[in-house]
Amino acid sequence: MNTPLRIDVTLGQHSYPLHIGPGLLKHTALWRSYLRGVHVLLVSDTNVAPLYAQRLYAGLDGLSWSELTLPAGEPSKTLANVRQVYEALSALGANRDACVIALGGGVIGDLSGFAAASWMRGIDFLPLPTTLLAMVDASVGGKTGVNLPAGKNLVGAFHQPRGVVIDTDTLATLPEREYLAGLAEVVKYGAIFAADFMDWLAIHSHALQERDPQVLAETIARSCRYKAAIVAQDPTEQGQRALLNFGHSFAHALETTTGYGHLLHGEAVAIGMLQAARLSTRLGWARIEDEQQLGKLLAALHLPLEPPPGLNAETLLQHMRLDKKNQGGHLRLILWHGVGQAEMVTDVAETDILAILG
Ligand code: NAD
Ligand code: GLY
Repeated sequence: MNTPLRIDVTLGQHSYPLHIGPGLLKHTALWRSYLRGVHVLLVSDTNVAPLYAQRLYAGLDGLSWSELTLPAGEPSKTLANVRQVYEALSALGANRDACVIALGGGVIGDLSGFAAASWMRGIDFLPLPTTLLAMVDASVGGKTGVNLPAGKNLVGAFHQPRGVVIDTDTLATLPEREYLAGLAEVVKYGAIFAADFMDWLAIHSHALQERDPQVLAETIARSCRYKAAIVAQDPTEQGQRALLNFGHSFAHALETTTGYGHLLHGEAVAIGMLQAARLSTRLGWARIEDEQQLGKLLAALHLPLEPPPGLNAETLLQHMRLDKKNQGGHLRLILWHGVGQAEMVTDVAETDILAILG
């Protein structure tokens, strides 16, 4: 096996590596090196467990371990399922040196990471992401949590993993719609930090649709480097990390309003980024050409550009008022001055936001 690519998230004593490459679930010595105690809970979902859990069993030999398989999809990201993880940990007799392994996408990663953050005030967490979205974003940086009916990710904690092992072979079975949704978070890095990455993605949009292994490897590596760098700079989102929420205030409102799982998270992010770009144009912050460039790239990647019809703008705005970034009763949004130049903005008039939502 070739040596996997390693990217470090540098956070002092909480630093950890991301290992990226094909076949890594079978690289037992690599992921097992992150287990410190004897208790391991393997959490996965009903789509992923039958495909990949077995690859891990040999590596768990000799440990006291069990597995929990939750229903696949966004509606599973609930406190009730966090409780299921606690119950499985309890049945296992897991104490402070236990580890929760999350085998799956961002839903399994976020919810089992939150359980790991809170079980006995924090135990080890090892994500083994199997969606593109989780590989390039959700598994990196320690944001964990669940949804409430009132809003996305309203309950959660920062809890950095021990390491992240990204087996790119698992993308072979990822359904097309899920794969494309992951590309939205990739585009986000270009949109907020790197105009040259946006150009590169546009040039390689066909190869990306074809899941060309080399282009995909480069895409994952570049995305993970952007994410690792910003997390290292601002692990608990006191400033710059908030830029990663470009389009997300709009997206979370869309996901909550339409019902979790109706729009995939990445699809909502694609629509939300375009709405943020439109608002930036409307406010005179950016040129319309930048918004058009973003729309063209998202369309080339077969991502949705418009929200589903019939949504109520005031309801969407109501959800945006509950966004975690807001402060002192003021909405805070991530807008841009153009491709690669995002900025946090306070005090955008609600009439302007409503005009975009309407
Ligand atoms: P997901 O976890 O629901 O996975 C998508 C679907 O693909 C599921 O049905 C799953 O069973 C299936 N699947 C996963 N891997 C597969 C594979 N290799 N082969 C076949 N099927 C597979 O969704 P997601 O897009 O990975 O994650 C979305 C979640 O991530 C959202 O809840 C979002 O809020 C969260 N998120 C978190 C962060 C963070 O920083 N923590 C960042 C971005 C997104
Ligand atoms: N996905 C946004 C963040 O990790 O900050």
